[in-house]
This record gives sequence, C-alpha cells and structure tokens, in this order.
Amino acid sequence: MEIPLKPNDDLIVIKLGGSVITRKKDDTPELNEKNLRRLAGEIADALAENGKRLFIVHGAGPFGHIFAKRYNLHLGLSDEKQIEGIGITHRWMQLLNYEVVKALQEAGVKAMPFQPSAGGILCDGKLVQFPLNVVEKFLDMGLVIVSHGDVLLDNRTGIGILSGDHLAPYVAHNLRASRLILGTDVDGVFTKDPNKNPDAKLIPVITPKNIDHVVEELTGSTGTDVTGGMARKVLELLDLAEKGVESEIINIEKPGILYKALTGERGLGTIIKKD
Ligand SMILES: Nc1ncnc2c1ncn2[C@@H]1O[C@H](COP(=O)(O)OP(=O)(O)OP(=O)(O)O)[C@@H](O)[C@H]1O
Ligand SMILES: [Mg+2]
Repeated sequence: MEIPLKPNDDLIVIKLGGSVITRKKDDTPELNEKNLRRLAGEIADALAENGKRLFIVHGAGPFGHIFAKRYNLHLGLSDEKQIEGIGITHRWMQLLNYEVVKALQEAGVKAMPFQPSAGGILCDGKLVQFPLNVVEKFLDMGLVIVSHGDVLLDNRTGIGILSGDHLAPYVAHNLRASRLILGTDVDGVFTKDPNKNPDAKLIPVITPKNIDHVVEELTGSTGTDVTGGMARKVLELLDLAEKGVESEIINIEKPGILYKALTGERGLGTIIKKD
C-alpha cells in the first residue's frame, strides 16, 4: 500500500541490531539488558534534544533466527510441521519486542509496539503491503513506533521472513525519512568480516560505483542469521541510496554513538549514498 509521498525531514528510521540487544554470539534467546537500557537512554536523550519523529526497527538475534531456522521458515511453506513454527517464532519475537518497548518506556520514550505480521505481506521476501497509513497516524500523535523483523505471509512462498534490514529501508523510503541509521556490533562495513580478519579495514563511504573495488568479502553473521548479515544490509542500503535516502551503519555497542548519530553527526561508521 503506497501513500502519497511527502518530505518528512523530521523523521529518522533506526535499526537496533539483534547482535547488540541480545546475546546473538551465544545463540541463546537472551537479552543483553545492559546494552538495551543504555540504548534506550541514548534514544530518550536524543529525542529530548532534537524533537525528531522516530521509527525504530529491532533485529531478532537468536529470538527469531534460531526458531526460523529450526522450522525452515525462511525457505517457504512446504510442510505441515512448519505451521506451529510460525506461531512459536512469532511469540519469541513478541517477547523481545515487549522488552525493547519496556526499556524505552522506562527511559521516558513514548514507545508503541508495532507487529508487522498483522498487516504486512511479502512477495518473494520483499514487502508488497505494509500499513504505512497507520504508522503515519501514530507518528503524528507523537508516538515512537517500535517494530521488528517477523514471520509474514508471502504471496509466492506461503510464508517468509521479513528482515529488519528490509523493513527499515522500506519505511525510510516510503515515509521519506531524512536518514536511516543501522546500528550493529561492528564499526561499519569493512573490507572483510572484522570478526574473522583482524587486518580488515573500515570503509567510510560506499556508493554503487565503489562497492566492487572497496569490499573484498561481504558475508553473513557470527551467530545464526537466516536473513544474510552484513551482505544483506549493504544490498538493501545501496538500493535505498539509489532512491535518494542516505544511510549509515554504525557500532551501537559503543556507548554514545547512537546518541551522536541521532543528534545529527555523520561519518561515525560507514555511510551508504548515491555518489
Ligand atoms: N565486510 C564486513 N564488514 C563488517 N561486518 C561483516 C562483514 N562481513 C560479515 N560481517 C558480519 O556482519 C555482522 C553484523 O551483521 P548481523 O546481521 O549479525 O547483525 P545485526 O543486524 O546486528 O543482527 P540481527 O540481524 O539479529 O538484527 C558482524 O558481526 C560481522 O561478523
Ligand atoms: Mg542480521
């Protein structure tokens, strides 16, 4: 569902990576409460300062990825046994969403949960329907929307995974956000996976023109991740850049970085832009 496009200079979309708010490296569905509380505080401080409107997407970490993988939900619907997995995966994501919303509310943010599977539909993994008109009305009221990766109906495959790395650019584009900030557990995009290659170098700017020269190796994630880790992020963000929205991948495991990004600082990680 497309809504009429109008500039939304005061809207920012951010993603809180599952690798930071959960214990993704351990592959167990547990919160990283310390990081979550700190990030909620940084968001509250930034909003108090700049009064921007905010759409938050959080990743899944093990709360989503291990259950989606156990029931092969990322491969589409082919077996009766997968049906129970839809509800189970969803329940774990709701649990994580509850905790994120709670942390934000306790920090003083007017946070509001927003469940993608209730109104969103995919076609081959891409969103073709999402209740943006509802989102806009809640944003207009002054609420901060807190949505997430989820299990959705898929017109082609029956069932599919909506990646937070797809939802965030989709909303940024369709609501014409001024910026998209993807927060994760590394300083940005490196020449190779920095968790496996200590000699990997941070790339400050990626454009459709330089991508093939600057990146040597772009892979998935250290923990279980059914939606493609860093490689998926960069592809989604290059596509968004072509549509005119600039984005940045930053390390929100480091205290203060998300606050700086939300209050207008650029160049904290890897910027992805058109040229
Ligand atoms: N060239 C690269 N540069 C940077 N990180 C890379 C690269 N290649 C692979 N990675 C991996 O991508 C990971 C970040 O992606 P990942 O999807 O795990 O994080 P996330 O988005 O925070 O989590 P989630 O998907 O659960 O929300 C890093 O921890 C790193 O190991
Ligand atoms: Mg991921």
